[in-house]
Amino acid sequence: MLDVQNSLAAPQVIRRQDYRPPDWQVPEVALDFALDPAATRVKARLEVVRTGAHDRPLVLDGDGLTPLSVTVDGVTINDWRLEDGRLVVPLPGSAHVVETEVELAPERNTQLMGLYASGGILCTQCEAEGFRRITFFPDRPDVLSRYRVRMMADKARFPVLLANGDPIAHGEAGEGRHWAEWHDPFPKPSYLFALVAGDLAVNRGTFTTMSGREVELGIWVRARDLDRTHHALSALKTSMAWDERTYGREYDLDVFNIVAVDDFNFGAMENKGLNIFNSRYILADPDTATDYDYDAVAAVVAHEYFHNWSGNRVTCRDWFQLSLKEGFTVYRDQSFSADQGSPAVKRIEDVRSLRAAQFPEDAGPLAHPIRPDAYLEISNFYTATIYNKGAEVIRMIATILGPQAFRAGCDLYFERFDGTAATCEDFVASMEEASGKDLAQFRRWYSQAGTPRVAATLTHEGGRAELRLAQRVPPTPGQEHKEPMVLPLKLRLFGAETGRPLGDEQLILMTDSTETITFEGVGERPVLSFNRGFSAPIVVESDRSAADLAFLGRHDDDPFARYEAMQQLMLDALVASVAAGNDSSQDGGHQAVLAAIADTLDDPALDPAFIAEAVLLPSESFIGDQMAVVDPDAIFRAREALRRNIGRELEGRWRAAYDSASAAGPYAYTSAAKGLRRLRTVALGFLMASGAADAGALAFRQFDDADNMTDRQGALGALAGSNAPERVPALDIFYNRYSDNPLVLDKWFSTQALSARDDTLAAVEELARHPDFALANPNRARSLIGAFSVNQRAFHAASGAGYRFVADQLIQLDRINPQTAAKLLPPLGRWRRFDAARAARMRAELERIVKAPGLSRDMFEQASKSLA
Ligand code: PHE
Ligand code: ZN
Repeated sequence: MLDVQNSLAAPQVIRRQDYRPPDWQVPEVALDFALDPAATRVKARLEVVRTGAHDRPLVLDGDGLTPLSVTVDGVTINDWRLEDGRLVVPLPGSAHVVETEVELAPERNTQLMGLYASGGILCTQCEAEGFRRITFFPDRPDVLSRYRVRMMADKARFPVLLANGDPIAHGEAGEGRHWAEWHDPFPKPSYLFALVAGDLAVNRGTFTTMSGREVELGIWVRARDLDRTHHALSALKTSMAWDERTYGREYDLDVFNIVAVDDFNFGAMENKGLNIFNSRYILADPDTATDYDYDAVAAVVAHEYFHNWSGNRVTCRDWFQLSLKEGFTVYRDQSFSADQGSPAVKRIEDVRSLRAAQFPEDAGPLAHPIRPDAYLEISNFYTATIYNKGAEVIRMIATILGPQAFRAGCDLYFERFDGTAATCEDFVASMEEASGKDLAQFRRWYSQAGTPRVAATLTHEGGRAELRLAQRVPPTPGQEHKEPMVLPLKLRLFGAETGRPLGDEQLILMTDSTETITFEGVGERPVLSFNRGFSAPIVVESDRSAADLAFLGRHDDDPFARYEAMQQLMLDALVASVAAGNDSSQDGGHQAVLAAIADTLDDPALDPAFIAEAVLLPSESFIGDQMAVVDPDAIFRAREALRRNIGRELEGRWRAAYDSASAAGPYAYTSAAKGLRRLRTVALGFLMASGAADAGALAFRQFDDADNMTDRQGALGALAGSNAPERVPALDIFYNRYSDNPLVLDKWFSTQALSARDDTLAAVEELARHPDFALANPNRARSLIGAFSVNQRAFHAASGAGYRFVADQLIQLDRINPQTAAKLLPPLGRWRRFDAARAARMRAELERIVKAPGLSRDMFEQASKSLA
């Protein structure tokens, strides 16, 4: 029985080496939609052309579709067949017109792939393989077609009809219906197709491109959300100008539309001329969105816009090349954000999220290179590795080439591959050709998984310093043996006595397993500032003393390295107290940390935003990543002890920082004001940790007086993790005030799920039964389950109840929305990192998931790989 089930379910492995060009191209597509939430009819007219000399039939992908009719050159045929959902059509000649018709029920589409309904809006999501849920088509990114789209719908329910490209005609259709026709002149793969029908309001703008063309911009939302679209619209204009200035890339259609919907599996989608967004990355106003949200809106708007070139004009040959568009586009949006505010703080944030999401992935059962070799379900490969490590790889190329050659390489790449489906290899080869630099060994970054570890030892004797470096890439699943990587390492020496730099910053390219670098004329004892700016995405193992780290925390002129020294100092202290089973406040590690934080707070030259980053303790999970076996309870105790100690010993400074940051005046969205708000809430957190009698009241006052969500949520977060009497009233007030705003309610759920209190698991189980909880809404599911499963203490409760809760939820969610469920699995898959008792409990839940009846391919791949 089980065998039969398994063999039926056994999904097929897709391999990069099996790539073959398509048998048929489809230069022209005409789609005709009779839209209705319950029953939508889709007619497709494909002009197909045989490629090369072969006699294979036309095979069109389909997922859950049944053809109502199939015609070839206008004549109904009956010799088609369905194979595994695909429509196979035997064709005699080299060019034909093939027409099909299917019927869909968008309102029953809970996977949110293909055509679906979100809050009364009909919309599509096609990347990676959703188009095959709309119509029969060669649904692969190397089939590029020109699309003409006609939509008809009830005019009262769906007054706005949008698709890719430019609007060309519209009219009345009788019986209260209307129609519209759109045409996209740029050939594109099916994953970039989009349409939207709904009762939408628009915030319009215009942008004049560098060659003087006027583009009409529109941000489409429900009428009640309209006044929260200004930030997105202004970010869009800024992005368009930035891409012209920085990459010479101009927008190419007459209109650019963005639609926001509440139900969306990812952040947003770059459909040609019609981006569709998760509303959380569009809607923002000071009362409902934090500074973090504002920054995320701008970054995602920019990201999707930048895809118009890095992704759409030049697309991917196959899904193994995903990082070609995603890594590059993340690099582009990171540079954009850095240019809008503080580059130093942006780099710190990006590295923090790389370490939080990508490093654990690279060290776990789901590790894969940025260009994977095989997958079962491509949706599982929209990962931190493809996106964020992919961006780091592009950043290293830019560092190695320098800005001019990098720009020349980009120009060459865009020019040469415009209108085509390219590969990572095409990108790297363009970079080589434009720069004259050899990137042969560098290509290992595309094929080897795992985070390189570099040991750095500096010695000094009689005017000469020697830096010995040794790199090692740990084994990952399927890759036991690794070759040395090319590592661009920025470094600088500082004099321990004078605090002054000894020479300039150097960029060295490490290519061997071990290398030694010699510095002559070093008169005083040098201190090493290493991997400055996080020039390579590696783990540094260095034996720098607490004193040297504190020294760098004070004197390093590279802001990232300065932050990093503080982090390392804190990390060393925390790891030592965890190892000593010691949560007392008396050890020397604490003293060095306290002194370094005091110095940072006292330094008048520092930007408050930087201070707020530099004094933040490493997260529990990052501390765990340093340990052979993670002990969540010991980590929590050690971290809390340090937090309390920092709060108590530096209480006067925290109060001063809090007061001066609070004096900033009314809300403004500027870099300076953002930095002060950040420092204010960080100071509040330490005051809460100190146990000061008035801290709860202070937090409640910040919560209650706030004229913006950053201050309000910051205070709520501080209260939510505490035993303060103000905690419950604040949560209730917050809920009542925002109960009609789904994005803010998500914060209410996640704030509680992230709480460090003892009763968090029980609270979360109750929240899962709250009337506002809905597994079917991905944002809401993530706000509770996703947040809870990164709560190291509660999720890893020794009883295993946290694991059981998450597994129960994921099994349910998998039946509704496999893509979103599978994305939430990895925390459960990291069982190897924990003690035997926890590991056994985590495994048991994974096994329960794998055996769940009707498990999706998405979930099967994640769970089975995690068990392997
Ligand atoms: N391509 C989208 C982006 O990176 C992400 C995405 C993938 C969205 C799959 C939806 C589905 O911007
Ligand atoms: Zn993207």
